[in-house]
Amino acid sequence: MEIQISTADWNAAEAQWLIVAIPEEPQLSGRFEQLDSAMGGTLSRLIEMEDLTGKLAQLLPIRDAQGIAATRLLVVGLGKSEELTRPKLEKALTAAARKVATKKDVTAAIAIPESLGDGLTVAQTVETAAIALHVASQGQDGLKSEPGRHPLAAATILVDAADEATANEAAARGTVLGEAINLTRELVNLPPQEIYPESFAERAEQVASDLGLKCDVLGQAELEAEKMGSLLAVNRGSSREPRVVSIEYRGGADDAPTLALCGKGVTFDCGGLSLKTSDGMITMKCDMAGAATVLGAMSAIARLKLPVNVTGYMGLVENMISGTSYKLGDILTARNGTTIEVQNTDAEGRLVLADVLSFAADHGADRIIDLATLTGACVVALGEDVTGVFSNDQSWCDDVLAAAKSAGEMAWQLPTFDFYADLLKSDVADCRNIGGRWGGAISAAKFLEKFVDGTSWVHLDIAGPAFASSNKPHREGGASGCMLRTLVETASNF
Ligand code: BES
Ligand code: MN
Ligand code: ZN
Repeated sequence: MEIQISTADWNAAEAQWLIVAIPEEPQLSGRFEQLDSAMGGTLSRLIEMEDLTGKLAQLLPIRDAQGIAATRLLVVGLGKSEELTRPKLEKALTAAARKVATKKDVTAAIAIPESLGDGLTVAQTVETAAIALHVASQGQDGLKSEPGRHPLAAATILVDAADEATANEAAARGTVLGEAINLTRELVNLPPQEIYPESFAERAEQVASDLGLKCDVLGQAELEAEKMGSLLAVNRGSSREPRVVSIEYRGGADDAPTLALCGKGVTFDCGGLSLKTSDGMITMKCDMAGAATVLGAMSAIARLKLPVNVTGYMGLVENMISGTSYKLGDILTARNGTTIEVQNTDAEGRLVLADVLSFAADHGADRIIDLATLTGACVVALGEDVTGVFSNDQSWCDDVLAAAKSAGEMAWQLPTFDFYADLLKSDVADCRNIGGRWGGAISAAKFLEKFVDGTSWVHLDIAGPAFASSNKPHREGGASGCMLRTLVETASNF
């Protein structure tokens, strides 16, 4: 789906839907006033009648729009101007774009006002609009005989003439990001009988080869040779083989530092012998979202030709139950020699990442970010929409938090004080794989920290925002592709 930039007047834009975003307590000036008068004052009357309020993400469709070139007008609220943030703008534009993408072959134009809330640049606004158009046109119901979302036949973003060059660049970037997010979402949304370690790895190889990137896939025998005893144990109950995929992108100088992105790729997490409840298992195809986000981010970083060196690592296993499953009481030896007493086979993500992190640290990573749908405890702490952030290096953490803010993604740091590591003590091994009832997201992070070998590292727990069980007006149910933009933004600034 291509996105055009146009400097046409709003009333002259030809499309089946013209989407106009309007702040709360709307004052019809500038472009809005021009649109209103072309429509014979319809907008001002709707404001008067309080049908058009501009409340955040409120949609008001006007299906028979008179006096303008577009067939229909969709007004979407932005909330109070002074409170507008990038996540709120995204919420509003996604709600609008989802509404128009419900039919096939729709043409749409999004009108961007001259100025939006203080912190938002034209580039950020246009990029957000482009991402919204892409994400809204792909749903989680691609396997239905009649899917509910469709790519638009044509999509235009209307900007001021002075902003045309900036907008063209931002729309191109937004398209790369939107397509990468959709790749991640597609992989996460696909059912677990289709996406398992081997098929995920094949898809990753395909993506890498399309982009001309070097891709290495380790299978069972190679992982044994690598002594990845922690990752291998998790996969032991599965009838499928595990994989570890690395994809290398070198856009920077030979001696420039390397950023490593590590993703948890548990293609299905039934909990193992510490079996989940049926309800707790329903969404567990999403447990490879970290790995899928790494793959999506690598594709965006390569397509944007960022001048940096980035390697993506994906640890792919199935956490299944069978006679060969790893057991409670087993003592595993991780790749870096650490011995781990298994006290809960459902705390498997950290066991997978342990070996992937030590592999990355040994293969020249100067900075690491890992992503994982790691703990329910993080969802208890921060809710379903916010990513938990943990680190061993505050300045690296600040870089990632700043990238999240500018990318418009919600992330919040939790502490990693030394004493939390005491929760992981074991009587029989170097550590155990759970930390007890309280502070579960943090003890999981402290576990991971043991395997980065002192490398500057940030851990992103995306258990809340990675996957939603149902649709909301502003958000497609299923996978979100969250934190992909933050990874790309971090790489841009690296
Ligand atoms: N994949 C889950 C975490 C999860 C929960 C992701 C909800 C998405 C939504 C993870 O492997 C897990 O089961 N964690 C356990 C850890 C516990 C046993 C220490 C949890 O959070 O209950
Ligand atoms: Mn689990
Ligand atoms: Zn899991």
